[in-house]
Amino acid sequence: MNQLISKKVAALTGHIKVPGDKSISHRSLIMGTMAIGQSRISGLLEGEDVQDTARAMEAMGADISRDANGDWLVHGVGIGGLCQPEKPLDMGNSGTGARLIMGLVSTYPHNTSFIGDASLSSRPMRRVTDPLEKFGAEFQGAMDMTLPITVKGIGDPLPIEYEVPVASAQVKSAVLLAALNTPGKTTVIEPVATRDHTERMFEHFGVPIEITGSAITVTGQPELTARDMFVPTDPSSAAFPTVAALITPGSDITIENVGMNPSRTGIYTTLIEMGGDISFINQRLECGESVADIHVKYSPLKGTIVPEKRAPSMIDEYPVLCIAASVAEGQTVMRGLGELRVKESDRIAAMVTGLKASGVTVVEHDKGMTVTGAANIPGGALIKTHLDHRIAMSFLILGLRADSPVTVDDGTVIETSFPGFRHLMNELGANIGSNA
Ligand code: S3P
Repeated sequence: MNQLISKKVAALTGHIKVPGDKSISHRSLIMGTMAIGQSRISGLLEGEDVQDTARAMEAMGADISRDANGDWLVHGVGIGGLCQPEKPLDMGNSGTGARLIMGLVSTYPHNTSFIGDASLSSRPMRRVTDPLEKFGAEFQGAMDMTLPITVKGIGDPLPIEYEVPVASAQVKSAVLLAALNTPGKTTVIEPVATRDHTERMFEHFGVPIEITGSAITVTGQPELTARDMFVPTDPSSAAFPTVAALITPGSDITIENVGMNPSRTGIYTTLIEMGGDISFINQRLECGESVADIHVKYSPLKGTIVPEKRAPSMIDEYPVLCIAASVAEGQTVMRGLGELRVKESDRIAAMVTGLKASGVTVVEHDKGMTVTGAANIPGGALIKTHLDHRIAMSFLILGLRADSPVTVDDGTVIETSFPGFRHLMNELGANIGSNA
């Protein structure tokens, strides 16, 4: 455990680049492995979650290296070319890595075991094993289908049609990845649209994919050739310095090359509705994904009611939105968030407990929370992060504005998604240090 402490500061200023998009990084390593030849990935997130995916791909035959410019090179094995790993795949803290790769391997005649840390080992996996069983795969694990799980994949899978019962890009993507090594057409129907990075990457690699309304159909067993990929920086990571600048008087920052895929930008829409001075400059398209630089200035914020239907486009950003809401005038109501209970931690419980300990007025709902903002936040608490990077970063942002410093019990977990967070924030003028 490595406690970090965050203290009140004056303005945050400067230009920064946050690390690469976690969702796109996982997918780029997986798709590089599915293609024959060498794919080059620029801007890959070098966080622990993505490194676990890289090691999993290597364990199944990919050759992955980093060149002197910081680009990653993946020599793929092609669809059908994966080998059975010799040891369990350790997916660490990563639900995305575990669920996507479970999908990928379920249509190979292999036994593949998955393990993870205490957080990942408590997360629900039946949401992916249910559809993957329909291809013919079998699963061995605890009664409640949590990790460790062994996937007994199927060598002659049958294509399926599957309607995803929860709003989950991970479930959708697990099915689409299982479809890659399945002959014929597999269709996933998504009642609520979620992030579409898998579909965009399939298009980039030339996988036959048709999207009609909410139905996504993939024709399996294509032969893929290597492609170069560019990973924009992560809008979910950029949300932390964005909120930090919005709530710290006098701030003026720019964050470069941020992914602006509309399935990910709900947090920016919400913060602008709350009165945030946020502008998007130099908007452009890179490898099928839109990208912009974000300019953020300190702004007095007002509470809002976040539309429930916006949740999938900002599902990872509710913890940091709670921090913005803590200093906004009036109430911010967040509902329709049952999924937050099964993230790296129960994020509703973790935020409500931490906010109350910091002197913020908050009410917990079954599927959400209501925060009442105040100009002055007492702070001064020691926050439990529950192996959850976004809980840790959110409360370190609160410390920049609170009257007394805010301490988080474990800063190491931030490495899963945002290596260099503390350094980057301090470059802008934050005061986040080790509490050793
Ligand atoms: C992700 C999907 C989301 C998100 C996670 C990344 C992805 O999870 O919370 O951080 O890359 O597909 P769900 O699919 O569980 O909503």
